[in-house]
Amino acid sequence: MTDPVLDELLRPYRDQIFYLGHVHGSKPRLPLWFKHFDRGPDGAGEAYHLGIFGKTGSGKSVLAKMILLAYARYPKMALLVIDPQGEFARDMKKGGTSGEFALPVGDVARKLGKQPVTLTVRNLVLDRWELFEQILFESLFFERLTVPKGENRELACGVLADKLQKAKIKLADLHQRKSFDAAWALLQDDKVQKVFYRTEASRARFDTALHEADPDEFFNDYWRPVAELFREDRPGAKSINKALAWLLSLTNDDGAPRDNRPILVIDLSKEQAKGLFWNDKIQSLVIKRLLDGLGQTAEYFYKENQSLNALVVIDEAHRLAPRELPSEDDAARGVRGVLIDAARTTRKYGLGWLFISQTLSSLHPEILQQLRIFFFGFGLALGQEFQSLRQLVGSSGTALDLYQLFRDPHSAFDAKSRQYSFMTIGPVSPLSFSGSPLFLNAFNTVEAFLDANDLST
Ligand SMILES: Nc1ncnc2c1ncn2[C@@H]1O[C@H](COP(=O)(O)OP(=O)(O)OP(=O)(O)O)[C@@H](O)[C@H]1O
Ligand SMILES: [Mg+2]
Repeated sequence: MTDPVLDELLRPYRDQIFYLGHVHGSKPRLPLWFKHFDRGPDGAGEAYHLGIFGKTGSGKSVLAKMILLAYARYPKMALLVIDPQGEFARDMKKGGTSGEFALPVGDVARKLGKQPVTLTVRNLVLDRWELFEQILFESLFFERLTVPKGENRELACGVLADKLQKAKIKLADLHQRKSFDAAWALLQDDKVQKVFYRTEASRARFDTALHEADPDEFFNDYWRPVAELFREDRPGAKSINKALAWLLSLTNDDGAPRDNRPILVIDLSKEQAKGLFWNDKIQSLVIKRLLDGLGQTAEYFYKENQSLNALVVIDEAHRLAPRELPSEDDAARGVRGVLIDAARTTRKYGLGWLFISQTLSSLHPEILQQLRIFFFGFGLALGQEFQSLRQLVGSSGTALDLYQLFRDPHSAFDAKSRQYSFMTIGPVSPLSFSGSPLFLNAFNTVEAFLDANDLST
């Protein structure tokens, strides 16, 4: 096979073909196709879930960025990236790249007419009373009022949120002193106290703590950092609903059809969050809220007989959907639960997921089961990983023999001779009709990738 022969054979599909690299151990480029998830000539008619696996440094993130650009060619597709290290966020900036393979993802996307926007998780404004209850529960507010973590505190948070709502106080106004004053007054109300402390003795203890406390200190140190998360006029912040509507809407503000749906990157990397109450639990609650919103929107589109036509990329997916989780970590279990559920249900809504993970065993098995397209990079040839791989690929021995010949890219002497090899299974190529795996070496220069796909600037 040579490139001209392949080109001729695949002429009818030329517009759909996308290249990530060359056939492993050979010259021609491996023709792949990444169809969008709606109906129509370039569409698959349903979403695909994809997975990229391989040990650290095997080139997963780079491959994911190339695939992201394959989908970015479709104006109608909306793309969401959950970015644990801030790596995609960096790449989206003007002239931004990361790592040795300096792919300017943002610049190429902009050239394709797609606008990338990055939000840190902390810039997502929370918009549910339920979240206020949960976050107040996690915070030091009630701790300092001598209410330990447990059922009483849960009840206290619940009744406080309830009464504040009844007093017509808005979530977005919770950061104001007058909202705090209202809350502080509510807590002194005997009827309110009775909701979370039954015995007179506990109520008396709480009441004493409340009266000895300095309201100014409580407002500044314990209330505001929580309430700020719900504040809509925080600079640079967007409510979760608005962010999702911006990403997924099919029309502009004036109701005209939109030319191109954007790319939204949610940056989860750690950075200073001044004046905000923040920890991993809060992060999990925010991500869950975002994913819930996405699922609801997808369902809504489905009822309107429309495909959401969106892809969510989750790098280091084992962090959000691990196989093992301590049973007490409710917030993290919540996120994993939505992901498992989404992998099962959202395909028919036109919502696809690309999960990236270093090992097969670290990702929850129910998610693995739902993947249609796999890319396996270097590093899964041993022990338990190899067993899992064998299960997924089937026992077609020769494919696994070839896979085992993959070399660690970083064992190569110089950068130029490094090979980032992948085995792929699933309907990702006009050549994958037989169901047997295909093998590729990813392009090892940015130019080769851009040229092959007519993306050069
Ligand atoms: N096809 C490629 N050609 C040249 N360099 C590459 C290629 N793929 C990856 N690299 C480089 O190799 C390094 C590791 O790649 P990458 O970050 O994609 O690995 P990874 O599998 O995502 O690792 P981790 O699991 O640690 O995130 C980076 O510096 C990257 O730029
Ligand atoms: Mg990576």
